[in-house]
Amino acid sequence: MISQQLNDSLTRVGPGSDAGEVLRRYWQPAALSDELMTGRPVVPVRLLGEDLVLFRDSSGELGLIGRHCPHRGADMCYGRLEDNGLRCPFHGWHFDRTGQCVEQPGEPEGSRMHEQIRSTSYPVVEKNGIVWAYMGPGTPPAFPNFDCFRAPDTHVFAFKGLWQCNWLQALEVGIDPAHASFLHRFLQDEDPADSYGKQFRDKAANTEIPMTKLLRDFPRPEINVDETDYGLRLTALRHLGDGRTHVRVTNQIFPEAICIPMSREMTITQWHVPVDDHNCYWFSMFTSFGDPVNKTLMREQRLKEHRLPDYAPLKNAANNYGYDPDEQANETYTGMGLDINVHDQWAVESMGAIQDRTQEHLGKTDVGIIRYRRMLRAAIDAVKAGRDDDLPMRNGTDPAAIFGPVSNDSIAEDGDLAAATRNSDFARRSGCAWDASIADPA
Ligand code: FES
Ligand SMILES: [Fe+2]
Repeated sequence: MISQQLNDSLTRVGPGSDAGEVLRRYWQPAALSDELMTGRPVVPVRLLGEDLVLFRDSSGELGLIGRHCPHRGADMCYGRLEDNGLRCPFHGWHFDRTGQCVEQPGEPEGSRMHEQIRSTSYPVVEKNGIVWAYMGPGTPPAFPNFDCFRAPDTHVFAFKGLWQCNWLQALEVGIDPAHASFLHRFLQDEDPADSYGKQFRDKAANTEIPMTKLLRDFPRPEINVDETDYGLRLTALRHLGDGRTHVRVTNQIFPEAICIPMSREMTITQWHVPVDDHNCYWFSMFTSFGDPVNKTLMREQRLKEHRLPDYAPLKNAANNYGYDPDEQANETYTGMGLDINVHDQWAVESMGAIQDRTQEHLGKTDVGIIRYRRMLRAAIDAVKAGRDDDLPMRNGTDPAAIFGPVSNDSIAEDGDLAAATRNSDFARRSGCAWDASIADPA
C-alpha cells in the first residue's frame, strides 16, 4: 500500500499535476482517424483534463485548439468549419489551426486586436489510424520505431474504448500477467480456428494447446521484469511439467502503454489515455505480421460492443456488465461474456474512480506494477528537477533504434527461454510482408 499523497501524485493528470506533467512529455492519442471521417470533421477531445476541439481544415490539415472560444467562452465544437479554420458562431471570431485568431468581423474596421488573441493549441500528427497530440513544453520527442508505427496502414487497425476510471489502474491491469489465468478464464475451449481478432483464443505458440487451456491449467506464472529503453519487459513463465515452458513476453511502454501478443499473427499496442482524473480511453493498435488486417471485421466486432460517438462500452456498471451467475458457474470466470475487454473493464472500474491504494496489498505477482510505479516516481522527480532528458525515450537514445517491442508467446523445449522467444519472434518477423526486421530481437 502507498500513502494518499503518493496515490494522488501518481494518478492525477491536470495541468501542473505530478503525473500529468510526465504524461505531457509524450505524444498522446487524441482521437481515431475514423472519428474525422464525416462530412464535418470536428470532434470534441477531452485529454489530460483539458477540453479541446480537433478539426481537419479545408486544406486537409489537422488543428487541435481550446474548446472554449477566447472571446466569451462559447463551445467551438459548434464552430463553422470554413476558410481554413474554425469560426465561432457567437460573434464570428475566426481561428486558424494554430489557434491564432485571424478575424473579428464584428469589431471596428481596421482593428488589430485579433493579433493578440490566441486559443490554446497543440501540435498533432496522424499515424496509422490515430491522431496524436503533444501537450508538453519544448519540441515533441520523435516517435520510436515500434512495429505499430513502422507497419503500413494496411497492417494496423486502431480502435478505442472508454473506461470510467483513472488511467493508472487501467494501465496496471496490463502489466499484471497473472490475472489472465483467472479474470479471462474460459471453462470451455473454443475452436482456435474461430479466433480471428480475439485475444487468448488462439493456440499457444507452436503447440496444439489452446491458450485458454494453458492459462487455466497453469495459474502460477513466474514473472521476471527487466528495464529497457522504452519501459519494462515482463516475462511470464508457465512451466508445463513435461520439460517445456510457455514463455509470454509483454511490455510496458513508458509512460502509459503496453504491448502484448494477441495471437500468433498480431500484437496489440495499447495506450491508457487519461481523459481526466476519473476517465480514460484505451487506444489500441492491432498490428499484423501476416496478412493485411481485416479492418471491416475487426471494426464490426468492436462496434457491436460500443456506442458512438463516445465509444462507451454497452456492457457497463449500469447493467452489471451483463453478469450472469449461470454463465459464471459453467462458462467463464466472471460471468460477463466472452469479450475479455469487458472483464478488464469490470476489474478496473469496480475499484472505484481512483483506486484507493492506501488499502491495497500487493503480492509477488504484482512485481510489474511495483517496478512501473518506481519508474513513474523517478520520472516525476526528474520533471520536477527540470531533468526532462532523464525520461525514458527522451534521454538521448535514438528513437529510430528503439524497435519492437518484442511481444510474443513461445514454447521453450530445452529450457533456453530467451532463445525460444528470439527464434519465435525471428520467424514471425522474417516472414512478414513489411520490414519488421530488428537488430536484436530479444
Ligand atoms: S464567444 Fe466566440 S466569438 Fe464571441
Ligand atoms: Fe486483461
